Amino acid sequence: MPPDPDLQRLAERIRSRSGVDLFHLAVVFGSGLAPAELFPATDAFPYADLPGFPQVSVPGHEGRLLLGTLPNLRILQFCGRFHLYEGFSAWECAAPVRLAALLGCRKLVLTNAAGAVNPQLQPGDPLFISDHINLQGDNPLIGRPDSFVDLSCLYQRALFPSLAAAARQRGLVLREGVLAAVSGPCYETPAEVRMLAGLGADAVSMSTVAEAIVGKYLGLEVAALSLITNRAAGVSGAPLSHGEVLRQARRCREDFAALIRSLIGFWSENSKNGF
Ligand code: HPA
Repeated sequence: MPPDPDLQRLAERIRSRSGVDLFHLAVVFGSGLAPAELFPATDAFPYADLPGFPQVSVPGHEGRLLLGTLPNLRILQFCGRFHLYEGFSAWECAAPVRLAALLGCRKLVLTNAAGAVNPQLQPGDPLFISDHINLQGDNPLIGRPDSFVDLSCLYQRALFPSLAAAARQRGLVLREGVLAAVSGPCYETPAEVRMLAGLGADAVSMSTVAEAIVGKYLGLEVAALSLITNRAAGVSGAPLSHGEVLRQARRCREDFAALIRSLIGFWSENSKNGF
């Protein structure tokens, strides 16, 4: 990775305060999705106490990095992410992923709130992201060295069958689908949503793809889950609002957190050396 002195300093600070040299996995929580406790947190760093790290500005994003330690897993939980519509570049949006890579993480779980383009998806449904369509008008690798990254197998699709079975046990239907990413901040028009459907998208969000691309660029394995918080514009007649997105996300976040725990468990079992 090109040197990033600010992030390197932060990584050093997190290492020395936590006494942990190497973390294994990072989770980035989307709008309203950070649960009360994914795993017990051993330490918390408000983003405001991380000089050089971007600061959150959107309701529903706490702006806190939680460290967690389980017997075989050291985890970074980013409660709050960065969006193009806040004025960040795609590379800046991926600051949590770059910090996670500096701290040794080799696995990345991305989550987001998303609107359903596919009429089979309903508010409250989880969606396993199998692929994406980047319509954000920015790519985080512009201007980076060695940036011809192959995205053919960006997301860890092999985890889907076990995770779908785990979801069924909780009474949830987990589907696989393609995420379209737009810049926001306004929601799409109905005509744009029809276009997204025509392009093969199942859901639409304003985040995630920059982080996924940077994850792959830095050698991390990436898995991503959406929570469908609304039907996209024109799919139903209901008005769209960030308040409603947050309400749905908060309503479903504990079930969603259980899915993330299962995903991490399967991933650990399927990895030759655990984490
Ligand atoms: N469109 C874009 N992003 C979103 C939506 C949506 O309908 N819902 C939640 N994030």
